[in-house]
Amino acid sequence: MTQDSAHDKPAATTSAATGEAKLWGGRFSEPTDAFVERFTASVDFDRRLYREDIQGSQAHARMLARVGVLTEAEAEQILQGLDAIRDEIAADAFDWQVGREDVHMNIEARLIERIGEVGKKLHTGRSRNDQVATDIRLWLRASIDDILRLIRAYQEGLVDLAEREADTVMPGFTHLQTAQPVTFGHHMLAWYEMLERDAERLCDARRRVNILPLGSAALAGTPYPLDREYTAELLGFDGVSRNSLDAVSDRDFAIEFTAAAATLMMHLSRQAEELVLWTSAQFAFIELPDRYCTGSSIMPQKKNPDVPELVRGKTGRVYGHLMSLLTLMKSQPLAYNKDNQEDKEPLFDTVDTLLGSLRAFGDMVPNLEVRRANTLAATRRGFATATDLADYLVGRGVAFRDAHEIVGRAVRVAQEQGVDLAELALAELQAISPAVGDDVYTVLTPEGSAAARNLTGGTAPEQVRRQVAAARERLRGLSAGR
Ligand code: ARG
Repeated sequence: MTQDSAHDKPAATTSAATGEAKLWGGRFSEPTDAFVERFTASVDFDRRLYREDIQGSQAHARMLARVGVLTEAEAEQILQGLDAIRDEIAADAFDWQVGREDVHMNIEARLIERIGEVGKKLHTGRSRNDQVATDIRLWLRASIDDILRLIRAYQEGLVDLAEREADTVMPGFTHLQTAQPVTFGHHMLAWYEMLERDAERLCDARRRVNILPLGSAALAGTPYPLDREYTAELLGFDGVSRNSLDAVSDRDFAIEFTAAAATLMMHLSRQAEELVLWTSAQFAFIELPDRYCTGSSIMPQKKNPDVPELVRGKTGRVYGHLMSLLTLMKSQPLAYNKDNQEDKEPLFDTVDTLLGSLRAFGDMVPNLEVRRANTLAATRRGFATATDLADYLVGRGVAFRDAHEIVGRAVRVAQEQGVDLAELALAELQAISPAVGDDVYTVLTPEGSAAARNLTGGTAPEQVRRQVAAARERLRGLSAGR
C-alpha cells in the first residue's frame, strides 16, 4: 500500500459550519454550501445508530487485524478509541457536527482526533454504503427482539385474563349485531392468536435481516482479503450477503419488517376499537384501569379511553411508513443511492410506535375489569340463543331450514312482548312448534349455549381452559429458547 501524503496538504473542501476539512474533500474545489450541508446531513437522526456503528467498526477492525491488514497493536488502539467514543456519546459529552454529515463520519472523525494517524486506517476495505446497511440490520435485529419480548409479555397477560374470564358469557357479534353467546376468555384468546401470527411474521423477517452486508464496500466488493465470515460471527449474523450490489442497495428487509409491523398495528387497532366500544356507557362491558385513562376539562363524568384511541390513531402512521419505504425503493437503480438515507426515520418511528403501543396494551389489557353482570345481561338481550333453539329442534327431528323458520317466528313473538326467548312460556313455544319439550330452557341460557360449543376452537369454557394451557406451554417453550 502506498503512503497517503495528502494529509499534510490543506484539504480542498471544508465544512460550511465549522471550516473543518471534509473526510472526502480531496477532489472538491469549493466549500459545501451551508444549506446543502444541512440538507444532506443525517446526523440529527442517524446518531441513534451509534452503538451499532461502533459495534460494526470494532468487528471490522478485529477482522482487519486477523487478516493482516492492520497490526494487532493498531486494531487494539482503534478498539479502545471506539470504546471511549461510545462512553462519550452515552454520557452526552460528544460534539455531534452537522459538517461531518452522519453518524459514521462523526465517529470516524472523532476517532482520528482521539488516536491520530491509526484512526485513518479503520475505513480500509469498507464504505459507508456497507457500513450503514450493517448498522441498520444490527439495530433492527435488536429492535425486533425487543418487540418480540413485549408481544410475549402481552400474550402472557391475555392468557391470564382468558383464564380468569373463561366462564364469563358475553354477546359475540357479527355485523356488530348480537350473534351468539361467547365467553370473554375465548375473545381474549382470539387476540392472542392474532399476536401469535404477528410474532411469527417478525421472526421470519428477522432471518432475512440477520445477514452481514459488510465486505460489499461501496458496491463491488473490495480487493482486501477480508474474512467476512469472521466479521459475521463476531456480530452474530447468520450469514454473509452473496451479492455486493444487492447488499448495499436493497432495503426490502426494512419494508418486510414494516409490513409485519403494519399488520401488528392493524391488530392492535382492532383491539383498541373493541376496548373503546366496551368502555362506553352503551356497552359497559369493561372498566379500564384509571391510570390508563384521562378526564375531560369540561365534563366531570368523563373517563376517556385515550390509550386505545391513540393506538388506533398511531396505526395510521405505521401504514404510512410502509408506503414511504416501498415508494423510497421503487425507482432506485442499483446500487446504493442517497435516497436510502430516508429509510431511517420511518423505520425508527415504526419501532417506537410498536414498542409504545405494546407496552401500553401489555399492562392495560390484562388489568381491565370485566363487568360480568353487564355482559351476561347483554347476552340475554338480542336473542343470542336463537341458533341454539334451531339446533335443539334439529335434535327433535326438524330439518334445519324449517327450524330456522320456526325460530324466526319465535323471535318475532318475543320481540312483540319485549322479552327474551328464554322468557317465553312453554305453551307459547309449543304453539310455534310442537317439537318443543320442557327441556328447551337449558339450551336457551347463554351459559348452556357457550358450553355446548365444546370442540377445538369453540367458545366453551372447557375449550378456553385447554387453549390457555396450550398457550402457556408454547410461551414457556419460547422463553426456554425451545
Ligand atoms: N448517511 C448515509 C445513509 O444513511 C450513509 C451512506 C452514505 N453513502 C454515500 N455514498 N454517500 O444512507
